[in-house]
Amino acid sequence: MKNILVIGSAGQIGSELTVELRKRYGNDHVVATDLDPAKLTGDLSAGPTAELNICDVQKLNDLVKEHKIDTIYNLAALLSAVAEKKPQLAWEVGLNGHFGVLEVARENGCAVFFPSSIGAFGPNTPHKNTPQDTIQRPCTMYGVTKVAGELASDYYFKRFGVDTRGVRYPGIISNVTLPGGGTTDYAVEIYYEAIKTGKFECPLAKGTFLDMMYMPDAIDAAIDIMEADPRPLKHRNCFNISAMSFDPEMIAAAIKKVIPAFEMTYNVEPVKQTIADSWPDNMDDSAARKEWGWNPKWNLENMTEDMLKVIAERHKRGEI
Ligand code: NAD
Ligand code: SER
Repeated sequence: MKNILVIGSAGQIGSELTVELRKRYGNDHVVATDLDPAKLTGDLSAGPTAELNICDVQKLNDLVKEHKIDTIYNLAALLSAVAEKKPQLAWEVGLNGHFGVLEVARENGCAVFFPSSIGAFGPNTPHKNTPQDTIQRPCTMYGVTKVAGELASDYYFKRFGVDTRGVRYPGIISNVTLPGGGTTDYAVEIYYEAIKTGKFECPLAKGTFLDMMYMPDAIDAAIDIMEADPRPLKHRNCFNISAMSFDPEMIAAAIKKVIPAFEMTYNVEPVKQTIADSWPDNMDDSAARKEWGWNPKWNLENMTEDMLKVIAERHKRGEI
């Protein structure tokens, strides 16, 4: 049985990944940690929890030893738009933080999951069908930390045999915890506003195509890659994965099919637009499909129906 520690459990992905990991491996085998312990409540309190700043390497080491951890999921980061406001902190958490995780993993024989991003690409990367191995010169601090994290993870595998694995997530769409300040957040917020007000002001321009994915596929990817047979893995850090690619017009049209009165207007935010314009329109994820069987289940249509249903129920219960 695995013993897992999740760093950044209270975030958009962590709040759902931690619960799913506990379903599969048992509540006592998954330690939920976050910088903000006040958020480790509700479903996240069903197993062990701890306050942890990823930069506190000694505390991370102590927790790993105390709970006999063999796998670390490092989800702590400042997302792209927030990182542009606080680049120094983004470097500290994303780059130095991940280095500490790798060192603790080396010392204690742990496997490490690293979630990279479409943000690891930049303006001179081919934007259409972005290859697995291609130019990575991002123009954001978020992207700098992701490229460095990918390289450091590969280095620790090759140099020290640490079992590092990761994916390049696209924008993740979900209905449990709101996103933490990324460029793709609009594709979550649009569903909440469609239910709450019937309209949405979009911060990205018409024609801005980005890769996206519904949370259940994102969770499966994180668990499946860590469970995968290592022998066929030619790439490790990190695999392109995607489930759909759309622009604001397409997501608005999908919502209109369910809520015909829904209306969208545009008020483009320059920082987010510049970031989005530097990222792929759609990634080639054939390496992930071939090497560990990546196969997403959700598309724009079935995700939209599910998102609107769940958010409407939450709205009715007064939760949002
Ligand atoms: P999030 O911002 O929602 O959550 C991050 C969590 O990390 C928060 O709970 C926060 O309190 C915690 N945290 C921040 N600083 C910390 C620190 N110093 N020590 C410990 N914890 C700290 O992010 P998310 O969307 O859940 O993303 C998780 C990971 O996946 C990140 O690495 C992110 O870059 C990556 N990713 C996310 C997306 C997406 O669309 N959500 C896409 C690509 C990659
Ligand atoms: N959703 C993330 C962001 O926009 C992509 O990594 O920052």
